[in-house]
Amino acid sequence: MASGQILVIDEGTTSTRAMLFGADGKLHGSQQEELTQHYPEPSLVEHDAAEIWDKTLSCCRKMVEQAGGAEKIRAIGITNQRETVVAWDKRTGEPLCRAIVWQDRRTAATCDALREKGLEEEIQSKTGLLLDPYFSGSKMGWMLENWPELRDAGDNLALGTIESYLIFRLTGGDHVTDATNASRTMLMPLDRDDWDDSLLEMFGIPRKALPTVTDCAGDLGTTSSSLFGGPIAICGSAGDQQAATIGQACLRPGDTKATFGTGAFILTNSGETAPKSRHRLLSTILFQIGSKRTYALEGSVFVAGSLMQWLRDDVKLIEFAGESEELARSVDSNGGVYIVPALSGLGAPHWKADAKAAISGLSFASGKAHIVRAALEAMAYQCHDLKTAFAADGANWKSLRIDGGMVANDWMVQDLADILDIPVEKPEFFETTALGAAMLAAVGSGIYDSLEDASVMISGLSQSQPQISSQSRELRLQGWHKAVASVLEH
Ligand code: G3P
Repeated sequence: MASGQILVIDEGTTSTRAMLFGADGKLHGSQQEELTQHYPEPSLVEHDAAEIWDKTLSCCRKMVEQAGGAEKIRAIGITNQRETVVAWDKRTGEPLCRAIVWQDRRTAATCDALREKGLEEEIQSKTGLLLDPYFSGSKMGWMLENWPELRDAGDNLALGTIESYLIFRLTGGDHVTDATNASRTMLMPLDRDDWDDSLLEMFGIPRKALPTVTDCAGDLGTTSSSLFGGPIAICGSAGDQQAATIGQACLRPGDTKATFGTGAFILTNSGETAPKSRHRLLSTILFQIGSKRTYALEGSVFVAGSLMQWLRDDVKLIEFAGESEELARSVDSNGGVYIVPALSGLGAPHWKADAKAAISGLSFASGKAHIVRAALEAMAYQCHDLKTAFAADGANWKSLRIDGGMVANDWMVQDLADILDIPVEKPEFFETTALGAAMLAAVGSGIYDSLEDASVMISGLSQSQPQISSQSRELRLQGWHKAVASVLEH
């Protein structure tokens, strides 16, 4: 096995991290900085791209120092929060405005208008996506229409998702995007490797402002020598959910993973043919290597860990996330309480951008523990609804590999197995997103020949089996479906 360490940049929704991996998949070090979340108005979410860059650079520098210098790093792998849009000046790399984050709903009316014009079918058949403010295209269009700085930049305007912006800054001017991130813009057909004129026109995006689409592994650029005291090759890049799917070794058709981060994202590997969903799921690129694509079917749930954060930071029902497990175990049922966590609308399979969250079934007998348990139960219920949609689309999960911060909660993991009625598998090493990016960089830099070979970097799994009766599962699901129906009606 070739030597050299791999530096992973994991730029998530709430934090920026730099992590150092050995070619055997062992984690050597990690640096993290929290990102400021800007909420200028309800349902608007923005990031400061300058802060993202500064924090990324500072975390990376610490890891380069720990590695013993740039020459000790074989390659960089990048993984990122997807769909979030940055606009910057090509001459300086400086952002022209705030980044609009994937959770932002400001373009709901634009999406409704396009749906009313009957355009959803064309968009879905080209891009595999559904008309929702979640995706980058309508966000880019909104920026161009509402922020004059973008128009004033003229030919110097650059648009891109987070990895594109980071690569531009790391290389000092390469404007590229990997195929997985490009597949989330709603501007690139799944069977093409560039932007579609009619989609660009629909959202009012100038082609010349957009990056060139690349593979996820290979020669993706080289960092400016001035940044780390020597050049480092960038050899891997993928959206964070795609990277987690790779890091969970979901490399064969049918393999499925769910990541419980800010949101919960479930992807089933669909092989080399793009799936066509008839049940409100997304078709997306899982990875592209040597210009060959592997696709996935995806169910995107917008609220998962962010619900626990909300309970902790805003409602102050818990003091720390780990307390939720203790509270859930302290009662023997949810006491009839259900939470439908539509705090930023509802994603798959409902796609209702203006849905509002609800807590139902409260009585004087309900206590804090019931509400917290209902919040955790909502994870399994949301996944259950996706399991039904995936099965209807021909993807029957035999088991589910899980990861993300929330899977530290053993009660939630067992509840997932109970409600989904399949074995749930948890890796010993939770950082599957970063590991997936490291695997791509390892393949891109020639340490391994393929992702299959690179899967020696992955650790073992522990399994939880379903334990409840089908009757109690059905009863709980009935309560959930009633709660969701009432949210969808309003
Ligand atoms: O599509 C949004 C997703 O990429 C965000 O991921 O890890 O920040 O929840 P995360």
